[in-house]
Amino acid sequence: MTDHTRPAPVPSGPPVSRWWGCYPELRRDTLGFLLQCQSYGDVVKLPVGLVIELFLRRRDAAMYLLNHPVDVKHVLVSNQHTYRKGPVPPVESRIFGQGVLHTEGETHHAQRRLFLPFFHGHHVTVYSSLITGVTCARVAQWQDGMTVDMGQEMAHLTLSVIWRLLFGEALQSDGHIIRHAILTGQRLIKLQYDSLLASLIPLWIPLPRHRQFMQGFHVIEETIVRLIRDRRRSSEQRDDLLSLLLAATDENGRPLSEKEIRDELMTFLLAGHETTANALTWTWILLSQNESVWDRLVCELKAVVGDRPADAADLPRLPYLKMVWDESLRLYPPAWSLHTRQAQAQDHLPSGAILSPGSWVFISPWNLHRNPRWFPDPPRFDPERFSEAANQMRLPFTYLPFGAGGRRCLGESFAELEGLLILATIASRIRPRLRDGQTVHPEPGMTLHPQTPVQMTVQRIGLTKAHPLDA
Ligand code: HEM
Repeated sequence: MTDHTRPAPVPSGPPVSRWWGCYPELRRDTLGFLLQCQSYGDVVKLPVGLVIELFLRRRDAAMYLLNHPVDVKHVLVSNQHTYRKGPVPPVESRIFGQGVLHTEGETHHAQRRLFLPFFHGHHVTVYSSLITGVTCARVAQWQDGMTVDMGQEMAHLTLSVIWRLLFGEALQSDGHIIRHAILTGQRLIKLQYDSLLASLIPLWIPLPRHRQFMQGFHVIEETIVRLIRDRRRSSEQRDDLLSLLLAATDENGRPLSEKEIRDELMTFLLAGHETTANALTWTWILLSQNESVWDRLVCELKAVVGDRPADAADLPRLPYLKMVWDESLRLYPPAWSLHTRQAQAQDHLPSGAILSPGSWVFISPWNLHRNPRWFPDPPRFDPERFSEAANQMRLPFTYLPFGAGGRRCLGESFAELEGLLILATIASRIRPRLRDGQTVHPEPGMTLHPQTPVQMTVQRIGLTKAHPLDA
């Protein structure tokens, strides 16, 4: 697509501070700033500023925001080998270690080869009764008319589910401690992304935020290590990720070390619960604000599922449910930004721009999904955008809630199964409504979450008979 006979277009961008680059704008209103950048062309240059240039000893260092799907495909798929993930703040490396999220090259390929069959297609459907069971048990605790913090409820549910997927057993009463520790870790990661200074202070310096993080982190780490050792001792085989990792060997036929197993489990625990919880929370908010969508969804559930709990076999017959889920992931993609990629060599993008070695590439599903070129009237919640006919018309690489290419989300099928079953199970027995006058704004942290607690009143509806687990 590149015409090499014409001079390459030079990416332009919004005016930013010479000293601090685009960071003040990004910090002030990240999501709004990204949308403004849509008007600067297919590739938008975002200088990092003199301070970081001096720190890195690199002149004219910049991030490049991609607004065009052909460039997105090029970086994530066709020419992915020219790119690596950019460096991460110290706290993030401490948490994830050498888990699949942060490795590169052959190590990363080997890790994906191990996990892909586990997460692929039908294998995950064996988890459907577990998902509906956990959901029914949680919903049984909601009294008719009570107000719940929907974000917390969904996080509790998805943490219980991922814990079972990883360790094959229920999360014990220390669930809230684990959740609190995860939140503390995420806050610190966000701070280190936002502030160069915060990311330069080593974790061993006893700042209150470092101490709080280390305390919580040790609780999760000790729990994971204890579970690894117990399973090793018992030699019990279960259909969970821990058994998969204990049976795995490296390229020399050696079993994985305790540290390697711990890194993978920690990675899946963090990558796989908050994302799905936020996707669900946003879906409840959107459903509560869109009466006609809610009515059509409930009609579909009534016709297909009727008076029994939904299971994986129902999902192909619940197309509207899937359209609602897809549209919710378009408007509020939990992974609002993919991990920044760094060019390892000069690269010509299909839209014409030339990136020098070391350039950072910024791909934001939030930004792509709200670009009126690809999704007219972007803020409107309209599940019809994901009807079968519309899916065939959509330009590839404009819709990326799970990323693309060699780093595409490993848990995508599982997240979809889990999200759809939780939605179906709850929507067929409960109607959640936002408390009057409540407005909810998105906040981009590690994932795109609501800025404030989401207070919803829950009203029982008699669509289904009681599930045996409701008792
Ligand atoms: C709605 C829920 C989810 C969303 C929106 C989501 C989104 C994503 C995205 C966009 C990426 C790619 C990031 C990049 O390219 O920089 C990713 C990677 C990943 N996700 Fe998910 N995810 C979800 C749920 C899950 C679940 C449930 C699991 C585990 C059970 C999981 C495990 C992973 C892992 C391990 C990676 C790293 C893959 C690699 O680098 O090779 N995710 N996810």
